[in-house]
Amino acid sequence: MGNYKKIYDNWQKYPKTFWKEQSENIDWEKNPGKILDDDNKPFYKWYPDGSLNTCFNAVDRHVISGRGEQNAILYDSPVTNTKKKITYSELKYQVSIFAGALKKLGVLKGDRVIIYMPMIPEALVAMLACSRLGAIHSVVFGGFASNELAVRIDDCKPKIIVSASCGHEPNRIVEYKPLLDNAIKIASHQVERCIIYQREGLNVELISGQDIDWNEVVKDVSLADPVEVQANDPLYILYTSGTTGKPKGVVRDNGGHAVSLKWSMKNIYNVEPGDVYWAASDIGWVVGHSYIVYAPLLHGCTTILFEGKPVGTPDSGTFWRIISEYKVKVLFTAPTALRAVKRDDPNGKFIKKFDLTSLQSLFLAGERADPDTVLWLERKLNIPIIDHWWQTETGWPVAANPLGIESLPIKIGSPTLAMPGYDVRVLSEDGNEVPKGTLGAISIKLPLPPGSLPSLWNADERFIESYLSTFEGFYETGDAGYQDEDGYLYIMSRTDDVINVAGHRLSTGAMEETLSNHVDVAECAVVGVSDDLKGQVPLGLICLNKGCNKTHEDVCKEVVDLVRNEIGPVAAFKSVAVVSALPKTRSGKILRATIRKIADKVEWEMPATVDNPQVFKEIEEALKPLGY
Ligand code: COA
Ligand code: AMP
Repeated sequence: MGNYKKIYDNWQKYPKTFWKEQSENIDWEKNPGKILDDDNKPFYKWYPDGSLNTCFNAVDRHVISGRGEQNAILYDSPVTNTKKKITYSELKYQVSIFAGALKKLGVLKGDRVIIYMPMIPEALVAMLACSRLGAIHSVVFGGFASNELAVRIDDCKPKIIVSASCGHEPNRIVEYKPLLDNAIKIASHQVERCIIYQREGLNVELISGQDIDWNEVVKDVSLADPVEVQANDPLYILYTSGTTGKPKGVVRDNGGHAVSLKWSMKNIYNVEPGDVYWAASDIGWVVGHSYIVYAPLLHGCTTILFEGKPVGTPDSGTFWRIISEYKVKVLFTAPTALRAVKRDDPNGKFIKKFDLTSLQSLFLAGERADPDTVLWLERKLNIPIIDHWWQTETGWPVAANPLGIESLPIKIGSPTLAMPGYDVRVLSEDGNEVPKGTLGAISIKLPLPPGSLPSLWNADERFIESYLSTFEGFYETGDAGYQDEDGYLYIMSRTDDVINVAGHRLSTGAMEETLSNHVDVAECAVVGVSDDLKGQVPLGLICLNKGCNKTHEDVCKEVVDLVRNEIGPVAAFKSVAVVSALPKTRSGKILRATIRKIADKVEWEMPATVDNPQVFKEIEEALKPLGY
């Protein structure tokens, strides 16, 4: 029996013993006596009587154990031509100072702090400072616009927002301050203070009484010590897209998060304390939370903080330059990033220029890893290319090839097998397991492991309704797929309105809500269509109100601007066509799947229950000028 199977079987037989043993790799203030509290199903609590501080485990602990002079963060920003190295000792100092500043402003355990920042070291300092105080951070991705920020302000009600003067996109400077000010104006909740980090090159004017300069706020404050929190106290809230326009506030608690992430670093990624680990993502996403910030630091690794793009900053050799310059052992990124690299440099000219001998493996997640890209990478890099699958909700990989346990045979197109902690089943609509090889709803038997979401922020009912109500005793992932005879998983598509654009999870429902708010739009549908680079991109169809006398071109431009301004540029909503009606079933349901097939130019059949079959011809014609 292979090592993986031994460990997985052992976890299945003795889950509490397994998670008790893993908890011993974390420093607790009070060791957990009880491992799992399942008295209040379907709400489970891991390590209910344990207490700890996550920041202590991610930072102080390594200084105490002699890693003080090791780099904790290597910041590399080709967009600003800046590089910085921050050792664990320096990080401890910076985090303690900033935590002191937050404390002086009245931030206490349990208070929320929104962090709306670009990929700069201060963003990580702010996150860790919150966790030092037991305050709950909620990071909002910089590519979201004011309205999305306002929705999050109203949902989590932060005392403080930490932001910066600007972010740098390759083609423009993103000024955060007007977006922030507008969000504060839209939101009903009153934020007490905003701390603004003024970046070189853009000093913004601060609003007296509302804003404080980062450099002012850290003056003359006392260093703050880590605050003891219960294992089940929230560490952060991360909003993610669901079916409706209202994002879901995924809660992560402290204890299970620290234990599971620490376990994953050795067992899945096969890295040791001291190794250099790089997740090329953004702190606004779960990959950034788990694998830029918390997991590498909890494990005593050096993490890379990269502010740039895989191509164009300055070229498609950037990833390889960073790997060779910092001796990166493991790279984790989204397939879309490497598709961009492959498109620019198909022969791997840049790959040959750099010494990549430090790179042991490359992990992909965030979207389906397309075989073309995986094969290209295998040929060019000659190392294991590992697809692994997870979501914001789970916080760490559900299925992977656990290189630290055993290098399992790779099957291209599959993220391999379920990790200990996850009992994954593929279910039919009636909740029965489907035979191997049959498509179904991918679900996880409860309880979810430590580190996965205990609930949604202030929305226990929504948590149950969104994830636990379809299949009794199971968490519904929202992904459809199948398992082969060897148990390998294949993730094929979403079962809801979530689409995946360049590895970013977005809701077509939210885009439809935005389009519907346009005065001239009577009805609309947004679907995710295939895109060679980004995996999927949104495509909108709109029907206009009677009496609208604008040109179709003008309305389309207006709705594209509306989505950009309300949701953000990250939605990449650029294609929209006007049609006289949307295809619907007799009961009025919009036939989105058929629209998608038409745009993707795959074979489609006229649905039996369609009410207005003539509209399909019109849609085909309307999509032609958009390149579909
Ligand atoms: N702040 C402000 N705007 C942002 C932003 C941020 N943090 N991130 C992206 N945007 C903007 C971009 O500037 C772009 O705007 P534009 O329409 O004016 O050009 C838009 O949002 C779409 O951005 P993006 O998805 O990055 O597309 P792109 O065409 O600029 O780049 C890739 C394509 C593939 C290179 C890029 O998407 C990429 O690197 N993806 C990797 C994704 C990733 O790491 N995902 C994390 C999950 S693991
Ligand atoms: P997010 O919550 O933003 O991390 O997005 C999670 C979703 O991205 C999953 O539910 C999947 O739909 C998709 N996803 C992530 N990783 C993979 C993968 N390796 N293969 C296929 N889909 C993936």
